[in-house]
Amino acid sequence: MSSTLRTAVFPVAGMGTRFLPATKASPKEMLPVVDKPLIQYAVEEAYEAGIRHMVFVTGRSKRAIEDHFDTAYELEAELQAAQKNALLDVVRSVQPEDMQCTYVRQARALGLGHAVLCAEHLVENKPFAVLLADDLMQGLQGGPGVLKQMADVFAQTQASVLAVQEVPIEQVHRYGIVSGTALGERLVNVQHMVEKPAADVAPSRLAVAGRYILTPAVFDQIRAGGRGVQGEIQLTDGIAGLLKTEKVLAYTYQGKRFDCGSKQGFLQATVELALQHAEVSEEFRHYLQSQKF
Ligand code: G1P
Repeated sequence: MSSTLRTAVFPVAGMGTRFLPATKASPKEMLPVVDKPLIQYAVEEAYEAGIRHMVFVTGRSKRAIEDHFDTAYELEAELQAAQKNALLDVVRSVQPEDMQCTYVRQARALGLGHAVLCAEHLVENKPFAVLLADDLMQGLQGGPGVLKQMADVFAQTQASVLAVQEVPIEQVHRYGIVSGTALGERLVNVQHMVEKPAADVAPSRLAVAGRYILTPAVFDQIRAGGRGVQGEIQLTDGIAGLLKTEKVLAYTYQGKRFDCGSKQGFLQATVELALQHAEVSEEFRHYLQSQKF
């Protein structure tokens, strides 16, 4: 029986130590790229893929995320009274009426796999998506977003789908790495998956970006996986377990990934998205051109 994707899980309990002091009291997922917080880019990507139930796995000091996706009565009333309708639309667009948000706490930082397990009771034993907001993903201009591309693969295959990209060999130790047999230009039937391998033992240079579509069988596999690299319960180990019983596909997405978990990636996203932004792009382009680097 074929099923559609209804739920997206956003693990947002991480501490964001790479952005201290900015993240001392506010969630790293609320850092804005131009004028939108990182988490909103990810939520919009899931919404575009047809998903309407957003599950946030939160932790301490993450209240701002809940407030962001809630109605802001006072703000809306003031904007309405001042007839600032364009801004009112911007504020209201954050939570479309047909979108439902649920929050669950990850009480201890035991890893990404553990965060996903915290959402198990909310995905109703159905396939679901996982989006890591640190990875800001853009589809090709005018084309579908990355999760929508993956949802289309899922609709055809009903198999788990991982977003992948090739990375330089010096970078494989930062990622989940997959290898397997090619099924076409963009698809690989995954046979091996390993979290953060050293360059000399990496099975390939195909790295998992922070987008996953998974079948619910992964939960038992995450539990069975126990602690892995860095002493954490790794999502990668759960997916590696899933490979023994189910097909898992790696999909080389069309588009671009900004690693906003790093300062470099965050700055690059800011510059590139500013250059695409209707309101600021022209002036910002002139400013950049006027600089002597
Ligand atoms: C996580 C995953 C890793 C994946 C990466 C993508 O690692 O564990 O498999 O390749 O996200 O960004 P993290 O960046 O949280 O260390």
